[in-house]
Amino acid sequence: AEATPETRKRVLLAKPRGYCAGVDRAVQTVEEALKLYGAPIYVRKQIVHNKHVVSTLEQQGAIFVEENEEVPEGATVIFSAHGVAPEVYVQAKERSLRAIDATCPLVTKVHHEARRFAADDYDILLIGHEGHEEVIGTAGEAPAHIQLVDGPDSVDQVTVRDPSKVVWLSQTTLSVDETMETVARLKQRLPLLQSPPSDDICYATSNRQHVVKQIAADCDVVIVVGSRNSSNSIRLVEVAVDAGARAGYLVDYASEISDEWLAGATTVGLTSGASVPDELVMQVLDHLAERGFTDVAEVTTADERLTFSLPQELKRDMKAAA
Ligand code: F3S
Repeated sequence: AEATPETRKRVLLAKPRGYCAGVDRAVQTVEEALKLYGAPIYVRKQIVHNKHVVSTLEQQGAIFVEENEEVPEGATVIFSAHGVAPEVYVQAKERSLRAIDATCPLVTKVHHEARRFAADDYDILLIGHEGHEEVIGTAGEAPAHIQLVDGPDSVDQVTVRDPSKVVWLSQTTLSVDETMETVARLKQRLPLLQSPPSDDICYATSNRQHVVKQIAADCDVVIVVGSRNSSNSIRLVEVAVDAGARAGYLVDYASEISDEWLAGATTVGLTSGASVPDELVMQVLDHLAERGFTDVAEVTTADERLTFSLPQELKRDMKAAA
């Protein structure tokens, strides 16, 4: 029998979702380097925090390492989208590596801000998640001036030299709401705290959170495609649950979705982190359709057109080879 509209199960598909401009550029950098120089190409850290992307590039001849020391002298190394501390470039030079920097330009922007405020002798409060690669890279620009503030609860530990010369900066992939809360608490303690010259949380992070917030209240369950170590993907699950979804789940692949999660649900929300290829989302749509969620509505809250050109050092070699 035909399902009545009331019993028809539906999917609200968030847009924007998936690849941001920085991830697109970083993945293309590895692909183009493989074409130009041939395999193997070394990549320091996961190029972007996505299991599928990393294993696909591995099959094409990329070798992922943790540190420059693991790269043979003279070989090509690509630095990941999350950015690196200045000492990493120095090490690469010492090992005569051909270094290609795939740091997202929006992360590089935060590095510039850190350098500039450190040069003016500010205390810099860097809001971010302890141990995340991006935070390690940014803090490495001026370790003596930067202290990490890992969420609202760590505000009380902050100490500054001069309360009239303090600025906050942040990781690009944080929860927008939680960061505002952290800043509000910091401002209670430090009324003269300055804000970054422009938003450090990037457009892709805030757009993905904004749309998931819009759909979550109408969803029983929200599924986010993304990897466990992807900061922006984890934030999407948190935002969905805060905004009213009964449950939120993070999966790398459709096969990880348990039928139990869907039991009793009539509306499932679906989105993906900024490092996730859309084919993985399409596989989840197929998986849901097989379970009766055939009615798909895309909910769009922003139109993203930003693109970044490939790293200069790569473009130069591509041009010379053409
Ligand atoms: Fe860059 Fe934001 Fe993507 S910082 S890598 S555009 S998530």
